[in-house]
Amino acid sequence: MKRADNQVLIIFGASGDLTARKLIPAIFDLFRQDLLPKGFAVLGVSRTEINDTSFREKMAGAIKEHASLIEDIELHIADFLLKLHYLAIDTAAVDEYSKLKAKLIEIDSVENTKGNYIYYLATPPTLYSVIAQNISHHGLQSEKDAFRRIVIEKPFGEDYQSAIELNTALLNIFNENQIYRIDHYLGKETVQNLLVTRFANSIYEPLWNRNYIQHIEVTAAESIGVENRGGYYDHSGALRDMIQNHLLQLVALVAMEPPTEISAAAIRNEKLKVFQSLRPLGEDDLFKNVIRGQYVASNVRGKYNKAYRDEDGVDAQSRTETYFAMKLFIDNWRWTGVPFYVRTGKRLPTRVSEIVIHFKPAPNHLFVENDALGLADNQLILRIHPDEGILLKSGMKIPGAGYKVKSVNMDFHYKNLEETYVPGAYERLLLDCMCGDTTLYTRGDALENAWKFVQPIIDFWKNNPDAPLHGYPCGSWGPAESDELIEDKLQTWRFPCKNLSDDGIFCEL
Ligand code: BG6
Repeated sequence: MKRADNQVLIIFGASGDLTARKLIPAIFDLFRQDLLPKGFAVLGVSRTEINDTSFREKMAGAIKEHASLIEDIELHIADFLLKLHYLAIDTAAVDEYSKLKAKLIEIDSVENTKGNYIYYLATPPTLYSVIAQNISHHGLQSEKDAFRRIVIEKPFGEDYQSAIELNTALLNIFNENQIYRIDHYLGKETVQNLLVTRFANSIYEPLWNRNYIQHIEVTAAESIGVENRGGYYDHSGALRDMIQNHLLQLVALVAMEPPTEISAAAIRNEKLKVFQSLRPLGEDDLFKNVIRGQYVASNVRGKYNKAYRDEDGVDAQSRTETYFAMKLFIDNWRWTGVPFYVRTGKRLPTRVSEIVIHFKPAPNHLFVENDALGLADNQLILRIHPDEGILLKSGMKIPGAGYKVKSVNMDFHYKNLEETYVPGAYERLLLDCMCGDTTLYTRGDALENAWKFVQPIIDFWKNNPDAPLHGYPCGSWGPAESDELIEDKLQTWRFPCKNLSDDGIFCEL
């Protein structure tokens, strides 16, 4: 792989959580693999008045806690920390950016970074367009002699209209190919493997359509609550936090047509078509096919978990959803009539993200004894995390008299590839941005279409504050009502465990 050109990564919001937990550790991991450009610097920018030394000290602690490649860390960390610089400015004040410009010129001359800049906005979303404008006021967006890229964290907008406005504001300053809208799910190795599973094998693709697939489940479950993010989460909720972005991205990758080539344009064109084919949600869907829930207090494995409404920063009367499930359809040639069931939630029994492809049962019911048990249902499970891997469930004859059929597993676990280092999502995405590869970033048109799809739900809840919000105990799989979404009454959601091959155990002990 070609090494990225010399450059400076400017992180706005450098005193925040994301910088310490994800960004700097990921850059350190790239450093350990010798993947950074030869001339490279990070410039942390935020309002907090600290100097280079204290920024480096703080980041050293963060690296030790969160980086992956920490073996012999003391031999390497000092060299890495020298690449980190810090500038305290008020990022909302346009005049302050002359200090930024001067600092960048200074770094360029020392590190030979040639005026190539990536601006990473790890700030509150209200600052996204303000920072972009301030950058452009000082000509720092211009790509005349160097590249200039901007990375925007989620949430990208809070509804369809605000996403359009943010896109418009950014596109007034940057070209689309300078804008990197990050969705960390797309940086996960197992999510990228979805394309390989589908398009590098000839056995799946002929079956990958309405003729052979009965339904598809997409789950992203978490066992944690909102932790210390109650203030943010209470204004966001599961729909905006997980569905509009991460889960719809997974749906797009499962449902898209084969791209003509592995390039950013080809892949992103195919994903866009999926978003454009999502069946718009009508009133009936909003009543019947969308379920929201909120966790209530309960003891989980002997430990008391408080109710969402008692979390710090959360309104005591909050009607924000911490669980969301829906049935959706993709109205195109391949998928018409195939339900996609999508769910996410906090305080569920375990942390797991996966996609389950349910194939139609065999047309001829030869082994009648077993049909009632649904054993004829072949499933392909694409596990995103944990215990990353692939599992195929098929029927096998139980040895002995008669034809009793049992469901058995054929499984592959990434952990068996012991020699292979699996890069973290931020590591992969940051490196792609440094190299100018937008494939794993969301294009503006796709993002707007994803918002357009969920907007009726946002409106429905806003206009009907009494629309059902189901309580569910911490540690359960969410409101019982979500089971009703599944059309085939012989089927349920898969109840996954942290081990890919185990399922059907309702609560993990
Ligand atoms: C983030 C959400 O985007 O994704 C969090 O804001 C959520 O609420 C997280 O916990 C889940 O990511 P992962 O990689 O742990 O599945």
